[in-house]
Amino acid sequence: MQKPVVSQNKAVAEQQNFFHEIEKGLLAESASISPKFLYNPLGSHLFTAITLLPEYYPTSTEKTILSQYKSEIAEAVGHVTTLIDLGAGNCQKAESLFDFLKPSRYMAIDFSEEYLRDALENLRSKYPQIHMQCLGMDFSHKLILPETIPIDGRVFFYPGSSIGNFLTTEAQILLTQIKQQAGDGGLLIGVDLMKQDHTLKAAYDDDLKITAAFNLNILRSVNSIIGSNFNVSQFRHQVMVNHSQNRVELYLEALEDLSVSWPENFRFFKKGELIHTENSHKYTIDSIKKLLVDAGFKSTKIWKDPKDYFAVIYAN
Ligand code: AVJ
Repeated sequence: MQKPVVSQNKAVAEQQNFFHEIEKGLLAESASISPKFLYNPLGSHLFTAITLLPEYYPTSTEKTILSQYKSEIAEAVGHVTTLIDLGAGNCQKAESLFDFLKPSRYMAIDFSEEYLRDALENLRSKYPQIHMQCLGMDFSHKLILPETIPIDGRVFFYPGSSIGNFLTTEAQILLTQIKQQAGDGGLLIGVDLMKQDHTLKAAYDDDLKITAAFNLNILRSVNSIIGSNFNVSQFRHQVMVNHSQNRVELYLEALEDLSVSWPENFRFFKKGELIHTENSHKYTIDSIKKLLVDAGFKSTKIWKDPKDYFAVIYAN
């Protein structure tokens, strides 16, 4: 099916913004690439594979919490008109909520529009009673919802600790925007809690090297967006736990002196030089509660697993 013209113009504009955003990161003294560029079609599939790894505890732990406490969660959330899924990916997490939150509409938003479309197609046929819409959007700078979504009964769903990709200041801005657009509804959010290094390192540097592939693939994603010539075999996946900032940091380390070029620019990397690709912040109950309260949420209800690895929170 052909995309409407409006969407094509939007795509071109985004592509240009992305060019500048990526170029700026690559030319900075400490090079970085935004983690949203991890999610090209292959990256989205690799991320789904990560969620199936035994070492990657967040997805399975969150799933267990959601299913164990479904009646309490349903009671806290109350009536749902539209379930708004931020970073829907393969839509599986939202689907698991359908039977107890019973939304009449489902709005799936993701950076990776192609991947999202396919996922939603499958879901539509399974739940004909739910009105479904999907939207390819980068909400990392600003969250703008289509005006067609009724204001009443909006429940935002932001699972998987995706909030962890943002610095505290950015997370604060996004949560405030969510609160402002939630009306009488609220936010059901999953957050990863701080824990021992070895558990974190295993989760972000798995034995099958799926996370390494996921991280390295960002270079191919960047190649296709800005026309650069990164060679993934010249880099390796690196994970560091930053205790002072309460986060796991992902990097790509240059294995040799090398240069990368793209239209009208280039950059040298020395052997051992790092490109920062992702922060995954880990919270305490107090630190996430503070963020939510500062964003304007009045009340929070919290559910955790027995090991205190992960928390699911309903804020309104
Ligand atoms: C999707 C951002 C929550 O930080 O754990 C998984 C992404 N990166 N393995 C995370 C990710 C490496 C993930 N989030």
